[in-house]
Amino acid sequence: MKNLIDIKRLEKSEIERIVELAQEFKTGVRQSSVAGKTACLMFFENSTRTKISFDLASQRLGMNVIHFDGASSSLSKGESRKDTFDNLKAIGIDTVIVRTKEDGFIDNSLKELAAPFSFVNAGDGVTAHPTQALLDYFTMREKLGTVAGKKVCIIGDIAHSRVAKSNFALLSKFGARLHAVAPSYFKPAKTDFPVHYHDSLEEGIKGADVVMLLRVQKERLEGAFNSENYIKKYQLNSEILNEYAPNALLMHPGPVNRGVEITSELLDGEKGKTILEQAHNGVFVRMAVLEIINTEGKA
Ligand code: CP
Repeated sequence: MKNLIDIKRLEKSEIERIVELAQEFKTGVRQSSVAGKTACLMFFENSTRTKISFDLASQRLGMNVIHFDGASSSLSKGESRKDTFDNLKAIGIDTVIVRTKEDGFIDNSLKELAAPFSFVNAGDGVTAHPTQALLDYFTMREKLGTVAGKKVCIIGDIAHSRVAKSNFALLSKFGARLHAVAPSYFKPAKTDFPVHYHDSLEEGIKGADVVMLLRVQKERLEGAFNSENYIKKYQLNSEILNEYAPNALLMHPGPVNRGVEITSELLDGEKGKTILEQAHNGVFVRMAVLEIINTEGKA
């Protein structure tokens, strides 16, 4: 594994290797073999969890961490993307971790480069967020043992969600039963996976083993969005969750919009604790990804 671009391109065995290695890092039985390598964090979109956890993961592995700031870089003086990457490679960067609004940014960049680079996709456009799906899977495995045969219901803005797409890609490989709750304007025009869509929140989550909420991404919406109507129909609270999916694991990739997709009382209660565990697990999963990428898959 030289790059991590999209879950769709990983074999099941590669995903299992990542989560097993993450478990070894979490329990402290595994040491880094990539100390001294250099990671460059290139975030063109805002981020808290992904950026900080990649930074911490790199540091825990003993890697050097460079923060690339687009606005203060020579990109702002007209330097091309190709020249930027070729120079970063010449300077000594081993892995670029990139978040961008551009779908397919890494594939587009790889086509242009003089020498191959190691890239990790930290979220591109509305296409893929592979490390989020990996940490979600790690958390589900930790809590449920397996996802095979389990009902996983993702609720919200599926059309604009790279998290939902990467989760569907991963979970379908491992035999989960995929469900989604979304109003028609948040349903993607086409879907690559066998997802059963519901308009009713109660019907969608009924008997679910995992309920995953998504933030409405207002920054990606073109038309007006009526949050009052959305809240009335799709907001999850403790009462609904306890009635229809009392045993479900409650997940959210973050950031959360309190009072929109979820009530504060549910988020701050016992069920909401898994959401912070997802963020915690993200560090170990990203350590595993960086270890594997920087040893060309031989970790
Ligand atoms: N889940 C996620 O990608 O969060 P950030 O945007 O804060 O990184």
